This record gives sequence, structure tokens and C-alpha cells, in this order.
Amino acid sequence: MTDYKSKIYEAAKAVLPELEKGDVAPADAFCDYCVPCFKFAKVYRKSPMVIAQEAAAKLKVDGMTVEALNGYLNFTIAREAVVADVFSSKPGEYKPLSDKTVCIDYSSVNIAKPFHIGHLMTTVIGGALYKMYRALGAYVVGINHLGDFGTQFGGLISAFRRWGSDEKLKERGLDELLELYVRYNKEAENDEEIAKEARAWSNKIESGDPYAVGLFERFKSITLEQAKKVYDRLNIEFDSYLGESFYVDKVAPVEDKLKAKNLLKISDGAEIVELENSEESGEKMPPALIRRSDGASLYIARDLAAAYYRHENYGFDKCLYVVASHQALHFKQLFKVLDLLGEPWAKDMVHVSYGMVSVEGMALSTRHGNVLFLNDVLNAAVEKALTIIEERNPALNDKATVAESVGVGAVVFDALYDGRLKDKNFSLQDALNFDGETGPYVQYTYARCKSVLAKAGKSGGKFDNKELTDDAAYEVAKLIADFDDVVYNAAVKYEPSFVSRRLVKICQAFNRFYNADRIMCGGSLQSARLALTSRVAETLKYGLSLILLDAPERM
Ligand code: ARG
Repeated sequence: MTDYKSKIYEAAKAVLPELEKGDVAPADAFCDYCVPCFKFAKVYRKSPMVIAQEAAAKLKVDGMTVEALNGYLNFTIAREAVVADVFSSKPGEYKPLSDKTVCIDYSSVNIAKPFHIGHLMTTVIGGALYKMYRALGAYVVGINHLGDFGTQFGGLISAFRRWGSDEKLKERGLDELLELYVRYNKEAENDEEIAKEARAWSNKIESGDPYAVGLFERFKSITLEQAKKVYDRLNIEFDSYLGESFYVDKVAPVEDKLKAKNLLKISDGAEIVELENSEESGEKMPPALIRRSDGASLYIARDLAAAYYRHENYGFDKCLYVVASHQALHFKQLFKVLDLLGEPWAKDMVHVSYGMVSVEGMALSTRHGNVLFLNDVLNAAVEKALTIIEERNPALNDKATVAESVGVGAVVFDALYDGRLKDKNFSLQDALNFDGETGPYVQYTYARCKSVLAKAGKSGGKFDNKELTDDAAYEVAKLIADFDDVVYNAAVKYEPSFVSRRLVKICQAFNRFYNADRIMCGGSLQSARLALTSRVAETLKYGLSLILLDAPERM
């Protein structure tokens, strides 16, 4: 992949010494890159038109034409140069982040709560970022910061002892836990006794009482077993499952640091860090609550301990938290406290936030048991995918496997198609539209490439890059030539949608090419078109893997 921007910058700087790299701007309708000359008018005491004309006359950039138009220098990359870029390296060979370490905190499920549709976004955005950073060469640590600490687990033990049984737990697993949790919440509202009992159990977990801890560990493994089934379906991986409970005894050293900096205040018996006067923007932030008056540490305290742990153990360049936007204040407070503590790496912490998900208008909540399990949504998508595949391609082998890839892929792709901050209303119907901007559409186009290549038999014949400069082929080449750049931008802006959107564009261009240019036309032209098709297939497969989708060879 050629870095055209740098190439243009270096050549143009020789004739316009005041040029800055940011002045070289990407494509508009007239060209691929341009340099507006308006800001040089004062320096050279000439009109921008004249400056552009004089510069254009002197400038020569390899593989590009330069023209002056209305005070702009317009650079158009020669089509052959773009085509050459397509074949100069394979997708995924670009490793600009190989000296970087990135921690990604994502999915971070809560014990004894179902894996519901609300976890979809954190899981797939985090999972996709994980793949992208790794593909770009970074050392990545995927962290599932389990919600495995809190008084609710005391409640669960209490509920289990009152209304549950070993047999039921064995038989019904997470369903049983969820039911117990819902019942506990309902009854504790009016029954002070249950709440008291729950607190006692929660203290026992904390003090390491073997019975309480044993029961809790069982709840934990039931939850994780369920979650791991979903992770397998989504192609998600983690390197660490260290949850909140791991950090409980690591809060005290953080308190010591806070005390040493005189940041810890006592308010009504609770430990707090004041933040409101330290916010430069003038925005008021409520204090961070570190420890309650009853001695219990709070969520943010455990996150502070976790941040130190990650910094000490992984030495990250970036630590990402893929968490819903409603926790924005929490992360602002967290980063601010680290900043007040004088940690220079506080600036490397990023809250990768995202909008709300709803499914065709349904409300989603766990407290009242009104939840939509992610697994059920995936099953429904797979079932629908199977029906569509049976209609479209009844002779296909292994339909069930393909339907799993297509159905699950449709849900994931849909979740990753819009910018992450946008609220989403999910519709199975739309996500599974084979002709829409969807996962199945991309997968289908990949399978089409593979079938073209399979029918052609041998490929690899010689050709001239010029043979791929007609409009239809060139449109495809252009979208593939800078694919690595798209992946890089997606990673550093935490926007997997850059990749999914580009994949759809590649497919649209490929399908136009497929209809406009006969591929099996013989001679070196056929070799050229097959080579392009093969590169499209490789790029689609690679791109799909980055956003967690399988690429079935046949559909
Ligand atoms: N378990 C939390 C929740 O479901 C998310 C944890 C996010 N990660 C973190 N380090 N706070 O709300």
C-alpha cells in the first residue's frame, strides 16, 4: 500500500515550503488528493490561482498527474499505480502497531445474570477491536472484567437456600439463578429480614466462608459456561477473566496512594475523592465514592485497583473500556482520579462508549425477568437463515453449518454496521436481507468469488496492470488498495463500522464488475480479472474475520 499522502506532501513541500502535512486532503469529485493554496496567498503575495498554477508546472509526482484548478492543486493517482498497489502486498501484512500493547475490557458479564441482548454491543465491538489490533501487530490483552462482587450474591445465596435446590440448579442452570434473583429482588423490597440475611451471606463470601464461597463459585461457573457458549458462536476470545472480586484486596494500596496525595476525604463516614473543582472545563463532577461507611468498597475503587494492576502487569499503551454510554460519568471519574494521582498513563485510558440496543421495540431489563437472551436472538437468526438458504440453494451441503455462520454473522454485522454511538433498533428481517447492506450480502459475495475461481480452475497467468483500469475493475481495485488503511483507522478510532462499511462497498463494486466485465474472456485479460477476483476474496475473508464473521465457501 503506497502512502500517497506522504508522497504528495514530500513532493509538494519542495515547491511550497510552507506546506504542512494536514494541508494534503483526501479525495473529492475532481481528484484523489488536493492541496488548497489559499493560505499561501499572504506569504507569496500572489493569488491562490497563480500559486497553484506555478506549483503545478514545477511539480512531478511518480504515478500521479497534477493539475491546478481554482486555487487548488489536484492530484490524480494513475489507475495503474492503484492496481499495482492491490497486488503489492496481501491483506493483513501491514503491522504498524507491532510495538504497542493494548488492553481491551469488554463484554464483562455479571455473574448469575443472563447473557442478554444488552451485552451484544460491548461483546462484538470489543471482540472486533481485539481482532483488529492483533491483526495490526499489537500485543492485545482481552479482559472480561467479571461482575463477580457485590451484595446481590448474598441475596442469591439467601434465595437459593429459601427457594432453590441442588437438583433444580443442576437441571436449569442459569434459568434457575435468574428466577431466584428476580424473586429475591421482589421479596426483598418488602421484607427487611431477607435483605439482612442477604447482607450476612455477602459478608461470608467476603470473609472466605467455605460454604458461601463454594456456592458462589458454582454460580460463577454456571454463568461462565453459558457465556462461553455464546463467545464460541461469536468467535470471541479473552486472555483474562479476572473480575471485580480479584481486586477487593487491592483497593487498600490505592487508598494509600490517595492518602499520600491528600486526596481522600471523609464525608458522612464514607471515603470520597472530590472532583468538582478539578475539572478544567468547569463542568461539575460528583465526588468518586471509594468506600462506604460500612466498609464496603465501591465499583470505582475496584476499577482503580484494576487500572493499576493492568498498568503494572501489561504496561499498556492504551487501555480501552468498551462499555455502554450510561457509564460515561463513571469512566470520567475513574480517569480523573488517576490524573489527580499524577499517573501520566491516565491519558491512555479510553471509554469506548456505544448507544442503546432495542429489538423491534421491545424493552430489555433483567430486574423484572423481562429479558431477551442473546442466545435466543442468535437461534432465531440461524433458523431464519436456514429457511432462506433452503429456498435459495436447496442442493447445498452442510446447510446447518452455513446457516449458523450466516445467522450469527447477520446479527453481528448489523451490530457493527452503524457508528457505535448511534442507538440501534435491531430487526432480524433487515439483518438477514441477502441483498441489503448486510453480513449475508458480504458472505454471499465472497462465496460468489470463490465459485468463480473454482470454475476457472487454474489461475496465476501473466497480465498487465493496465488490463484492470477500466471503470468497473478500477472501482474494485481502488477500494482494495487502501484496505489496510481502513483497518488501521477503524482500530485507532475504535470504529469497527469503518471495516463493515468498506466491505459492503467492495462487494457492491465487485458485483458491478462481475456484471459489466466478463471474467472468463480468455487470454491475459482473463488472468487479470481472475487475479482481481482472488484479491477481492482474500480481502473479504480477512475483513470478515476482523469483524468476527465466518466466510463460508459456498452459500
Ligand atoms: N459488569 C459491568 C456491567 O455490566 C461492566 C464492567 C465494565 N468494565 C469495567 N472495568 N468497569 O455494567
